[in-house]
Amino acid sequence: MNLPPLPATMTEVRIAHHGGPDALQPHLIEVPSPAPGEILIRVRAAGVNRPDVLQRAGNYPPPPGANPAPGLEVSGTVAAIGAGVTRFAAGDAVCALSNGGGYAQFCVVPAGQALPIPQGLSFVQAAAIPETFFTVWANLFQIGRAHKGDIALIHGGTSGIGTTALMLCREFGIRTFATAGGEEKCAAIRELGGEAINYRREAFADVVLARTDRHGADVILDIMGGNYFNDNLATLARDGRLLVIGFLGGPIAERVDLRAIAQKRAVVTGSTMRTRTAQEKAAIADALQAHVWPALSQRRCVPIIHATYPLARAADAHRTMESGQHIGKIVLEVD
Ligand SMILES: NC(=O)c1ccc[n+]([C@@H]2O[C@H](COP(=O)([O-])OP(=O)(O)OC[C@H]3O[C@@H](n4cnc5c(N)ncnc54)[C@H](OP(=O)(O)O)[C@@H]3O)[C@@H](O)[C@H]2O)c1
Repeated sequence: MNLPPLPATMTEVRIAHHGGPDALQPHLIEVPSPAPGEILIRVRAAGVNRPDVLQRAGNYPPPPGANPAPGLEVSGTVAAIGAGVTRFAAGDAVCALSNGGGYAQFCVVPAGQALPIPQGLSFVQAAAIPETFFTVWANLFQIGRAHKGDIALIHGGTSGIGTTALMLCREFGIRTFATAGGEEKCAAIRELGGEAINYRREAFADVVLARTDRHGADVILDIMGGNYFNDNLATLARDGRLLVIGFLGGPIAERVDLRAIAQKRAVVTGSTMRTRTAQEKAAIADALQAHVWPALSQRRCVPIIHATYPLARAADAHRTMESGQHIGKIVLEVD
């Protein structure tokens, strides 16, 4: 395939200092070359995730070795291929989990973290997939062993993570409760097949226990952390699994009665995607391609796009995310 020649330089949005959205500033840098095992992607769209916002504010340092520029997921076309990569050809349309640096015109990623764009999805839709699908799959389904017949509780049901979890639970026959902080968000949860709980009006533990004949939730995906810990334990069913993957409600749980863990044989766990090795991420990519890509290609799961912004307006994209009004994903479009 004849590809346009690579330019010498490109724009990458970087975090100039820890602070507000205006800390996101464009830099002109050399186009990177893919190392062995990597591909260079000509980025067409880049997903915005809460971890980017937390990192910009100085609350989520990138792990050692990661690109400190923001952007954890991209879609685009393969522009160059590193030594030893056989699974992609130049020009292939892909989406990928990146190790930072996604808010850019080009991005290098380990080839194992890239997947073909599911049939029929746009670059914008594809860029909205990797970070949340890798995270939800690894936590809810692999570590949390969610399966058909389970009852799930998803906190932040309209977040990028939450909408993905709802779609995957529907796909795999899991009855799902989800929390959100408003009626419009609750309506969106119901459209995704979930049973909505407006946490500003109702206590989620009471609702789940009442509607499940006191069984509770077999698996809980939690982005809140400390302030939800006791109520999550109260909501768990026997042999339930609590996956803590975010700390928007603080990292410290207070006054925990550990007896609930023993009495319920509860499993309390969690994980972070960024600190996983390239091999672990590649294994998750393979599992997604086998188990989830058909649902995306057949339109049973379609990423929900709240808004798009040009790359030059990355700061506005962060402002929108920080307003907390969004439902689904925010995506940057790249020329
Ligand atoms: N462990 C991992 O590997 C991993 C990977 C990706 C993301 N995450 C975590 O998952 C969480 C969700 O990420 P996302 O990109 O899906 O986020 P998002 O789309 O921005 O959604 C976050 C939602 O959380 C709710 N929320 C409640 N309290 C909040 C607070 N104090 N500040 C901000 N939001 C609050 C809001 O919904 P309501 O209006 O309904 O309250 C908000 O819409 C984040 O904590 C992120 O760090 C973890």
